[in-house]
Amino acid sequence: MEYEEIIERIQRVITEPVKPIPEEILEKEKDEYFKINARSFEIYEEAKGLIPGGVEHNLATTNPFPLAMDRAKGYKIWDVDGNEYVDYLLCGGPIILGHHYEPLDNEIIKLVEEKGPSTGLTNEYEILAAKKIIEHMPGVEMVRFLQSGTEADMAALRVARAITGRQKVIKVGGGYHGWYDQYVWSLHIPGTGALNSIGIPPSVFELLIDIRPNDFDALEKAFEDNKGEIAAVVVEPVGGESGAHPVHPDWNKRCRELSSEHGALLIFDEVVTGFRLDMGGAQKYFDVIPDLTILGKIIAHGYPSAGAVAGKKEYMEILGKGMGQEPYIGGTLAANPITCAACYHAITLMEKNDAIKKSTEFANRLVNEMNSLFATRPDIPFFLYNFGPIIHYVTTAFFMVDLTSPKAVEIFKRKELAEEYQIVTSNMGLNALAGTRMYTCMQHDDEALEKTLKAWEYLLSLIPKS
Ligand SMILES: Cc1ncc(COP(=O)(O)O)c(C=O)c1O
Repeated sequence: MEYEEIIERIQRVITEPVKPIPEEILEKEKDEYFKINARSFEIYEEAKGLIPGGVEHNLATTNPFPLAMDRAKGYKIWDVDGNEYVDYLLCGGPIILGHHYEPLDNEIIKLVEEKGPSTGLTNEYEILAAKKIIEHMPGVEMVRFLQSGTEADMAALRVARAITGRQKVIKVGGGYHGWYDQYVWSLHIPGTGALNSIGIPPSVFELLIDIRPNDFDALEKAFEDNKGEIAAVVVEPVGGESGAHPVHPDWNKRCRELSSEHGALLIFDEVVTGFRLDMGGAQKYFDVIPDLTILGKIIAHGYPSAGAVAGKKEYMEILGKGMGQEPYIGGTLAANPITCAACYHAITLMEKNDAIKKSTEFANRLVNEMNSLFATRPDIPFFLYNFGPIIHYVTTAFFMVDLTSPKAVEIFKRKELAEEYQIVTSNMGLNALAGTRMYTCMQHDDEALEKTLKAWEYLLSLIPKS
């Protein structure tokens, strides 16, 4: 779907009244959720006393309570109550070969059995993994492995500042770059500023310039008003929260031009797009080459602990061995053999299986079929769009409501409603990120498509015609 149509359809979702499920029907669905997820509920009740909030990560936060997973295979996952789901969360993106993919898992099992998990010293898999990343990503000549996307985001800022001798950074509102102090600003929804910045000194943000997505004038003004002070522009190249605020077709190119013109580095956060959108990441897909690339969980296909800052040699070399007068970054378990072997073998298996092509073909089919289904209910403006195997499904558009509009008061109601829809689709055997994203893998098939359409058809049938 073209950018203009996506924006138009998002606006329709935002301007039209929301489409709630009638109270009595919703109560029945909630009862069903409690009934079929009794063991998950017990686990959650216990977890609440041991783990803050009862979950470790916001990906696992679903309402009315999170589901505890037991096992996964292909595109399917099973929870502790034995319920089976078509998984569109895929560990937050990294699973593209399919869960528990034996040719990959067998390599890791062999490694651990024969050699043990880690020594804290250099291993040969680091070289093999780095070579694979460099081979595919046009903007990457060197790689430094870290332990998460957040760490890689942190490192990229440090490199950019060390290289340019400048301090200020331009970030796009709604974008997510992990939980490092300097990035926790205007998360999820553009313009929310310090809403999520509890525990972070406000002075940190004096160095951050927050602009709205696709605001070309604001981007130019930021450079003009801070001449010679901008170290870097950091973007998610398909748009903030990896496409929930879809990128304008000219945005990345303009970021590239202005960064070069003003001597700043362009940083692509490819935690979601690298080795998912394309083997060469968004930089290949959009043909815009960043100076630094941030990679995350995807490079180890769900194996811990994965992240990397990568980029052009002239910039990356500044990191050196971490022993002298160079930017200090590190991590004991960074580049451990398990992660690096997973990276090397996952990329090799993706090449062999044409995994991105298959995942994209399924995503295209799913988007078309779901949009056709939604078209049978012209009173309901739901729709899907995708960047390859990254699908965004829009039902209440709670991420996209403009904070300065009168509709802003509805954001929480819209989020809650998306979660109510998720109760229904979860009861029907789907797992996705409520009201936002669905990832696909190379193993999603006709059966998955059929089950997905059936679940949404049922959900639509619960919403009264208007
Ligand atoms: C675009 C983007 N950047 C950074 C991160 C942070 O990665 P991690 O959760 O590995 O710290 C994420 C996590 O989902 C992400 O989506």
